[in-house]
Amino acid sequence: MRTIIYWFSGTGNSFHVAKSLQDNLDDVELIPVTKALNGDIEIAPKTGLVFPVYAWGPPVAVSKLIERLPSNKPDYLFAAVTYGTLPGTTIAITRKMLKNRGLQLNAGFSVRMVKNYPPFGGAPKEQKQRKINSAAETGIEKIVAGVREGKCGDLSKSNFFMSFVGHLVYPIFKAGLSKQKNSKFYADDKCTSCGICEKVCPVRNVQLADGGRPIWGNQCEQCFACFHWCPENAVQYGKKTSNQFRYHHPDTKLSDMTLN
Ligand SMILES: Cc1cc2nc3c(=O)[nH]c(=O)nc-3n(C[C@H](O)[C@H](O)[C@H](O)COP(=O)(O)O)c2cc1C
Repeated sequence: MRTIIYWFSGTGNSFHVAKSLQDNLDDVELIPVTKALNGDIEIAPKTGLVFPVYAWGPPVAVSKLIERLPSNKPDYLFAAVTYGTLPGTTIAITRKMLKNRGLQLNAGFSVRMVKNYPPFGGAPKEQKQRKINSAAETGIEKIVAGVREGKCGDLSKSNFFMSFVGHLVYPIFKAGLSKQKNSKFYADDKCTSCGICEKVCPVRNVQLADGGRPIWGNQCEQCFACFHWCPENAVQYGKKTSNQFRYHHPDTKLSDMTLN
């Protein structure tokens, strides 16, 4: 059955899940969410959304995509989310957003991968990154099998407490995002003006200024691709990130992230 997967990813975890689905299932097309937002959006008989958990909900770009999905019903609609600690209410919120568009989410999957949010300490050290990624492969295999078999239901790790608190967490995150002016991002003296931060930004929010140093606009999705993909660890967020570990999924290449 023809499958379209819309993916969003800052550090490549969700891209790796989308790619694993493509590599193991027949006739799968991968489309970056931010690219889809600039053109026509299609629903295939099997349609999937693969993205990271942001404050127990979907990234804003994913919610924008959902608002623009056509209302012709697919045979099977699924969401697969990657998270660092807890997926919270992400599947429930996504299901509700889709329902508002007249679409039914048939299955929701989740897999724990490496966390990447600098304000909460960022990524763990490399050895732990490897351990988490290796354990994640079992979860990804289950997602692939679930989608292949057309499994239904919320198969993510949610519980009642999470669903109660989570519905408060996500709106706060979204409101904060619309107010923030990205003043916390800057490039330090290690910056070589290579332009990778500009290339990996899925919403073209980073631009090299005249002097060759990046500047950040006001459209940030908080994916932290610019921060984690900088080869010199020169991109900082606030005052406490210079010693943090950087991370991207080892199987995701820079060229995958610049498809947006
Ligand atoms: C803005 C932001 C918010 C996040 N919120 C959560 C969260 O609420 N729960 C969680 O478990 N992980 C959270 N994370 C971690 C990511 O969901 C996790 O690292 C994910 O696998 C990253 O996927 P990616 O590599 O495709 O961007 C957050 C990360 C970012 C950047």
